[in-house]
Amino acid sequence: MVNAWYMDTEQNDQRLEHHRNPPQFVSLKQLYEKTGVEYFSINVDTYLTDGVLDKIKKDRGYTYEDDITCSKECLPNYEEKLKSFFEEHLHTDEEIRLVLDGSGYFDVRDGDEQWIRIQVTAGDMIVIPSGIYHRFTLDTNNFIRAKRFFIGEPVWLPYNRPADEVPARQDYLRRLKEGFPVAAN
Ligand SMILES: [Fe+2]
Repeated sequence: MVNAWYMDTEQNDQRLEHHRNPPQFVSLKQLYEKTGVEYFSINVDTYLTDGVLDKIKKDRGYTYEDDITCSKECLPNYEEKLKSFFEEHLHTDEEIRLVLDGSGYFDVRDGDEQWIRIQVTAGDMIVIPSGIYHRFTLDTNNFIRAKRFFIGEPVWLPYNRPADEVPARQDYLRRLKEGFPVAAN
């Protein structure tokens, strides 16, 4: 089950929880209102046949999908890779992930530049809007398997911060200012 919270500013291991003291949790509703990040709950035991994921894919036009595994065993230069995932960046398209096994953290900036940490485990599907500054890290379990989705031909290119001139960033800031539409999911 997904959990989200505001992060502390400690610079130690990125794989730790990094709660504030006291912890400051963020509900899914608040997460959406503050960042535009959308969430879907998927049953990983039945998703191939229950139609829930199929409907999301159809509704949102996800025509591409693949499967990725991140672990110490699967990735050469694991520690280096982990650091590169953790570079603050944005994309010109949504970043869509469905966790099938394991766990990790997606960190996103809210409108006040505060980091919100989103903890994802099996069954959590999140949609990170285009143009939002974000980063990813595994947690201390060092294992995640996830599906990636895309509308059309996938473009995984990250624009590391600063990337304020990228049109997707300007578009995101406009949407953030206007407010994300209610009941989008
Ligand atoms: Fe990304």
